[in-house]
Amino acid sequence: MLHVENMTVRFGGLTAVSDLSFQVRQGEIFTMMGPNGAGKTTAFNAITGFVRPSDGKVSYKGQSLLNRSPDEIAGQGIRRTFQNNGILREMTVLENVLAGLELAIPHAFWRTVLGAPSARRAEREAVARSRAILARLGIAEMADRNAGDLSFGQQRLVEIARALVADAQLIMLDEPAVGLSPGDRQQLGLVLRDVAANGIAIVLVEHVQDLVMAVSDRILVLNYGKCLAEGKPDAVRKDKAVLEAYLGQE
Ligand SMILES: Nc1ncnc2c1ncn2[C@@H]1O[C@H](COP(=O)(O)OP(=O)(O)OP(=O)(O)O)[C@@H](O)[C@H]1O
Ligand SMILES: [Mg+2]
Repeated sequence: MLHVENMTVRFGGLTAVSDLSFQVRQGEIFTMMGPNGAGKTTAFNAITGFVRPSDGKVSYKGQSLLNRSPDEIAGQGIRRTFQNNGILREMTVLENVLAGLELAIPHAFWRTVLGAPSARRAEREAVARSRAILARLGIAEMADRNAGDLSFGQQRLVEIARALVADAQLIMLDEPAVGLSPGDRQQLGLVLRDVAANGIAIVLVEHVQDLVMAVSDRILVLNYGKCLAEGKPDAVRKDKAVLEAYLGQE
């Protein structure tokens, strides 16, 4: 589904991502790991249109994503979360999820339908859809609470709901497990496996080892913007270059 080929991202003299290549298939959980500053978020940003790669190719279902805006890329069914909490705290959980649908529908559409009888129906359908997603993630009863009142773990699930609601086929999660309790982490892992089992591809950036090892189909380790190793969790865990990079850090 997603093909990244020889992607390089430079910021002035700094090469944040260097000659990176990987592919993500339908229904798989593909994890990027690596020390702080390794280039994980930059790789996300380059795929989702927030920064321009200096070199290389990025394509999704055979179509290039280069020179597309973040909204256009989201409109193609690639949704992401952000490393810093992207929850709208003063809005309800339901409204947070609905925001994911508005992004998928051009503003002109809303302008045309507002006031028309069909607007009410569209709104009802959007609400029903959002509630169904929340139910699937096990937080249906939170729908009308303020998002800011939820636990960290539940807020992560709301972000995932927002990414999923518009029929995303690829979701990209930047460190969703940061600050979660072990219980919430386990719940998140189950949700991710369930999402992937429904044919949705997940690209995960994560440090939390137990989660990464439990849910990932494949892992790519980045170090100073370069791919150090890629493969199944067991192989990556034992990889010499990976062990050295992590030991060197501590
Ligand atoms: N917009 C930017 N302008 C200049 N340099 C940047 C920019 N964004 C990131 N960098 C630099 O690129 C490198 C990679 O950063 P990035 O945020 O991608 O790392 P990361 O792997 O996500 O790290 P972390 O685990 O801390 O989130 C870092 O040296 C960072 O300072
Ligand atoms: Mg990051």
